[in-house]
Amino acid sequence: MSGKLASEYPSWKKLQQIYDSEHTKLVLKDLFAQDPQRFSKFSNEYNSTEGPDVTFLLDYSKNLITEPILATLLDLARDAQVETFRDKMFAGEHINTSEDRAVLHIALRNFGGFSIQESGADEVSGVLAHMKTFTDAVRSGEWKGYTGKTINTIVNIGIGGSDLGPVMVTEALKKYAKRDLTAHFVSNIDGTHIAETLRECDPERTLFIIASKTFTTQETITNAESARDWFLTSAKDKAHVAKHFVALSTNTKAVTAFGISSDNMFQFWDWVGGRYSLWSAIGLSIALVIGFDNFEQLLKGAHGMDKHFKETPLEKNLPVLLGVLGIWYNDFYGSQTHALLPYDQYLHKFADYFQQGDMESNGKTVTKGGQRVNYETGPIIWGAAGTNGQHSFYQLVHQGTKLIPADFIAPATTHNPIANSKHHRILLSNFFAQPEALAFGKTEEEVKKELGPNASEALIKSKVFEGNKPSNSIMFPLLTPATLGALIALYEHKIFVQGVVWGINSFDQMGVELGKVLAKNILAQLEKPEDVKGHDSSTTGLIHYYQKYRKE
Ligand code: F6P
Repeated sequence: MSGKLASEYPSWKKLQQIYDSEHTKLVLKDLFAQDPQRFSKFSNEYNSTEGPDVTFLLDYSKNLITEPILATLLDLARDAQVETFRDKMFAGEHINTSEDRAVLHIALRNFGGFSIQESGADEVSGVLAHMKTFTDAVRSGEWKGYTGKTINTIVNIGIGGSDLGPVMVTEALKKYAKRDLTAHFVSNIDGTHIAETLRECDPERTLFIIASKTFTTQETITNAESARDWFLTSAKDKAHVAKHFVALSTNTKAVTAFGISSDNMFQFWDWVGGRYSLWSAIGLSIALVIGFDNFEQLLKGAHGMDKHFKETPLEKNLPVLLGVLGIWYNDFYGSQTHALLPYDQYLHKFADYFQQGDMESNGKTVTKGGQRVNYETGPIIWGAAGTNGQHSFYQLVHQGTKLIPADFIAPATTHNPIANSKHHRILLSNFFAQPEALAFGKTEEEVKKELGPNASEALIKSKVFEGNKPSNSIMFPLLTPATLGALIALYEHKIFVQGVVWGINSFDQMGVELGKVLAKNILAQLEKPEDVKGHDSSTTGLIHYYQKYRKE
């Protein structure tokens, strides 16, 4: 981001020329046939150089690229000064310009190496120590509820980044979970969410974790108040709240006003973005479920990826490679979406998590300097755990009219080798087969041969797979806390790289504000039809319909 629109960079113009003149000739089948070394040229193994051993393979050979195209994509990263902005982020400069804030999720997992001056960065280890003491006390049974019983249920109440990270990670690392501690996550303002959850809770043995950076989010505060009312129906005395409610927040004043003592508050700082906060106190539910040592492994795995991102030349830098490849499809091929397809049931919330991570970060139309972009920015992120997706949306990915780049992610070894790992072998055979089918398809000749001479033209055509659909494949030995940490950090930094190239601020979220303001205004008008004022006829009609039929 140099004050210019990305489309003004020489490398962007060159990429446009390459796309215009060459894209019809970029055929994966031919590219692989022409070059037996294609896999070794376009794949990289990541090996952590610090902390726990983490290794994975990124195979990006099934992309619609040649060496000159990749070189030009990396020139684009250089033209946009990705390395300079990366270094500014790591140094704690206020790269979130609209909010005048540093962007320092890397400081939450900085186990040495990065010198960060921002205030609060030196308090991280103190909060981690507080989290450890608390986690150990709850898990060991030393922490008791108001009737002297141990805690067997936790309910994290939060939304967006204060929910999705803990949900995704506790699911992903369920293998490491304390099985006699049930974790619930309540996010939606729909009363059904909290009501159904509370039906499964015992007030004497439940701990509520109120997770909100601002502690003003309407959904979270309303759910927290309802949880407190429910609790006090049994506990009666407000003094008992201290044993059953803790807060994760940057807003001490609001936490205290809610009735949670500052002893039971786990702090973080304004330089932690909501969607980058699972590494902070927001990760308390993760630590409670998998234990503090495993939580620390998660952080250390992420730190290893931070070092890789900070120190590796662009040509071998995994987040940079993923970032520029995504830009190739998003901005030149006109792909609207990007699919995340983990072949690991434990990662079934991975795409949901990065829906916020990516779309809230890079869903922007103006640059940091306030100019409207004349190119596409963040893609629509979606996906599901394999092989479920194969039986729902893969049809469109294979034979639909849209180009959908996808990342396939899988562990070589399963945590659950049932039936002598037969399940895992079948799972992985699909993980290998799908990118192959997407890339190489099936020609009319092959279909004809398969169907024999009597097949109709229409049937033959319906069975042709055009192929040439790009994908990345990421494989690692086993889904451990450290590996997961590195994987999440890989995608965080990919989002960063893309945001810098597009010249946008990936770290604010102004786009969620308008709906919030309008909802507040409407809430005050819901009682009587004559109160409904200042809306278009559609909105007025909808509110009037509600007022006619509501029962409560
Ligand atoms: O959706 C907007 C947002 O501000 C997210 O960025 C954030 O993760 C979420 O709301 C929750 O915010 P808080 O943690 O302050 O309750």
